[in-house]
Amino acid sequence: MDKSAYTILVTGSNGFLGQKLLEKLVHDGSYHIVATSKSENRNFIREGYTYISCDFTDPEALQSLLDEVQPDSIIHTAAISSVEACENNPELCQRVNIEVVEQLGRYCSQQDKHLVHLSTDFVFDGQEGPYGEEDSTNPCNAYGQSKVISEKRLLSTGCRAAILRTILVYGIHGDPKRSNLVLWAKSQLENNNRINVVGDQWRMPTFVDDLADACIRAVQKEITGIFHISGEEMMSIIEAVYRVADFWNLDKSLITAIQAKDIGQEQNRPKKTGFILDKAKRELDYSPTPFIKSLKEIEEQSKIYFP
Ligand SMILES: NC(=O)c1ccc[n+]([C@@H]2O[C@H](COP(=O)([O-])OP(=O)(O)OC[C@H]3O[C@@H](n4cnc5c(N)ncnc54)[C@H](OP(=O)(O)O)[C@@H]3O)[C@@H](O)[C@H]2O)c1
Repeated sequence: MDKSAYTILVTGSNGFLGQKLLEKLVHDGSYHIVATSKSENRNFIREGYTYISCDFTDPEALQSLLDEVQPDSIIHTAAISSVEACENNPELCQRVNIEVVEQLGRYCSQQDKHLVHLSTDFVFDGQEGPYGEEDSTNPCNAYGQSKVISEKRLLSTGCRAAILRTILVYGIHGDPKRSNLVLWAKSQLENNNRINVVGDQWRMPTFVDDLADACIRAVQKEITGIFHISGEEMMSIIEAVYRVADFWNLDKSLITAIQAKDIGQEQNRPKKTGFILDKAKRELDYSPTPFIKSLKEIEEQSKIYFP
């Protein structure tokens, strides 16, 4: 593959994963990179790629973008990624999380291009985690439902697509606006704020650097199919927060355990997800960073982003 003549379009480039991806791709320097997101560019890195703002709620605007960029591969991270936003605005969720994916799939099918689509552990009901790629989906909220439909519609376009499902992504990049479990807990405890944390939901949290690497690997191999990408350690959300507190020597007495039902999440969040990672390890050389090691990396990276 002549990498310099190979154009990768990163959608959702202002988002949590999008920013990390862009940083890694620009640092690699071998591909022609075009980044797109709805708002003004918020990336820490300003050079080495082209940024085009585009609102995907407009199908013609998205088509024009594709015609202009003519990507060889698309890494599609743009989404309405919150359960509440999908529940409160079903039409927006339908357009952005489902129809946009189908439109991208049709484009890639017609042009014989490759697509990496991001999906979620919320496609599962959380009764029997950890899950393999072939396990039956049964989402318990509108966001998960939209992702299940997006996967099916994408596969029905017949395009060459990799669907990467992931779980509770955490890490750090240069834009402090988009927080995540680890940075939220660290910042609250550093400010001596009391926090309530759910003790009866279990996940395998995913380091954003690992996820970005998996996306890039999926492009490099132009791999197809569904892949589970997460950390390898199953833990309750509160356990993850305790580990954050331990790592940065913060006061654990500020943390109060609550239950999902206390915050209305008993019915609309899966109890225990987690992934079986064998396929990703085998086919994508996926090697997740241990949780504590990732906290060390976050500490190191924060010195670069916020010296
Ligand atoms: N983060 C997680 O824990 C997690 C877990 C499982 C799965 N996922 C999936 O992984 C992917 C990446 O997640 P993320 O956390 O990086 O998402 P994110 O931070 O919420 O970013 C999503 C991006 O999508 C863009 N977007 C939203 N509506 C748009 C529109 N109408 N037109 C164009 N762009 C639009 C936003 O752009 P602007 O900011 O420019 O407005 C935003 O930057 C998503 O598919 C998500 O569902 C994430």
